Amino acid sequence: MSFDIALIKESWRLVEDRQGKVAADFYGLLFARNPAVREMFPPAMDAQRDRLLGALTRIVLGFDETTSLIDYLRRLAVDHRKYGVAAEHYPAVGRALVSALRANGGDAWTQAHTDAWTAAYDMIADVMVRAAEEQGAGVPAWWNATVVSHELRTPDILVLTVEPGEPYPYHAGQYTSLETPRWPRVWRPYSIANAPRADNLLSFHVRVVPGGWVSTALAHHTRVGDVLRLGPPQGTLTVANSRAERLLCVAGGTGLAPIKAIVEETARLPHHPRVDLFHGVRRRFEAYDLDDLLALSERHGRLRVVTAISDEAREFGVPETVPEALARHGAASDAEVYICGSPGMAVATVRRLDTMGVPRHRVRYEAGGRAVSLAEPALLPPSQPLAAPVIPELPAMPEMPSIPELPGTSSAPPGSFAPPAFSAPGYRISPFIPDADQLADDDLPLP
Ligand SMILES: Cc1cc2nc3c(=O)[nH]c(=O)nc-3n(C[C@H](O)[C@H](O)[C@H](O)COP(=O)(O)OP(=O)(O)OC[C@H]3O[C@@H](n4cnc5c(N)ncnc54)[C@H](O)[C@@H]3O)c2cc1C
Ligand code: HEM
Repeated sequence: MSFDIALIKESWRLVEDRQGKVAADFYGLLFARNPAVREMFPPAMDAQRDRLLGALTRIVLGFDETTSLIDYLRRLAVDHRKYGVAAEHYPAVGRALVSALRANGGDAWTQAHTDAWTAAYDMIADVMVRAAEEQGAGVPAWWNATVVSHELRTPDILVLTVEPGEPYPYHAGQYTSLETPRWPRVWRPYSIANAPRADNLLSFHVRVVPGGWVSTALAHHTRVGDVLRLGPPQGTLTVANSRAERLLCVAGGTGLAPIKAIVEETARLPHHPRVDLFHGVRRRFEAYDLDDLLALSERHGRLRVVTAISDEAREFGVPETVPEALARHGAASDAEVYICGSPGMAVATVRRLDTMGVPRHRVRYEAGGRAVSLAEPALLPPSQPLAAPVIPELPAMPEMPSIPELPGTSSAPPGSFAPPAFSAPGYRISPFIPDADQLADDDLPLP
């Protein structure tokens, strides 16, 4: 597979400052020429309207044929079946893409530019069409799942459990996408908060985003017995092949969901590794899953749970950030590390682990649905302010897992991320260590 990437990049510069117009033209052309396709997209296409186009252009611009990109495209293709996308839709999208680019390229746009984009799109579409046929064969395009439990554990954190109508094979640490009957065609990714179970049930930890379409619908307009739709499992933050003797799991807020699934999975690994789980929240009541975690700790036998609670005057302990809690309680330098939470928490944690001698190549962090090893060069140089935390140039950059913006921090775009404002007023984390009798036997400070 080859096409002229230099020509593509050159032509991109011709339209780069007209991206909004390109997006409007792209969708306008796509829907005008193929009215039936409009039904696949969400009713409101304002802020999100360049999801597909944005991903497409990023992929074409960064296409380097690595295995991970091809794998990504294959998974994307299987996932696209939930939208109702079939092979015959791909040429229409390609034509709309190229027309929209050409229409905005001005006089400097040439036939060679058009040809280069067409060739690139065709290659990508080819990978996706074949993957949808081959890997999608026999796999449902989506799963109906009945809500069996709906618990608002705090005013804005929901623990939801569903029972898919058919087996739903996945690995602990993966996420799925959810669609509610209230907002058909509006899909959002949510991490599955449990390892695969014999009864096929899946749990989710949903933080309500004020005004958010899906999180609000799940929290306030969903009842036991309602039927949701699930897309195929996605994500690579899994532990299935780990042989590590020790795991260090660090979660912020509802970033606990995939981490909890991973921890559950470790109890089933033949070598039954020791696990330290640090969960950072801002206020005590936000430690919404503590009872379950302590019960898990008892069943697991080799799990230590530490919850860091922020910004409340409290009777126990000195205020500590999650990284400070880590330093106080210790982390084995040979531990395999899994992190899921806000970029600020993740980066501060990694910096702390640096000082504790935990090599970066052992650290995995989920960024936008993709697990990334921090060993990837230049992703997080020790003294740099955070480059897009561990997010390499890669397609599909959905939002980060839902952690509300912290006071004193800003949600800068990837690439211009500011250091975590742990010292900012309103974000001081204090430790909460469960009572001694709630700890497992080996919950002693690590060497
Ligand atoms: C791989 C992956 C896994 C995820 N797992 C989980 C999970 O386990 N639990 C969970 O609760 N969420 C998770 N999310 C986030 C989730 O997919 C949704 O983005 C979130 O629930 C908001 O969706 P919504 O439709 O309610 O809000 P939208 O309608 O998408 O957003 C409404 C408004 O809120 C803003 N907004 C969106 N998210 C946030 C936020 N976090 N903080 C502040 N403003 C925001 C939007 O920019 C928009 O202006 C995950 C995301 C990814 C990419
Ligand atoms: C080369 C081809 C394509 C690529 C690389 C691509 C990529 C993407 C990506 C990355 C997303 C965002 C996914 C997410 O947020 O989970 C997306 C969304 C979507 N794509 Fe595609 N896509 C392609 C072709 C198509 C085609 C042919 C159709 C059918 C018309 C289609 C329909 C959609 C729809 C309906 C969405 C959801 C949009 C939304 O929720 O706002 N895509 N696509």
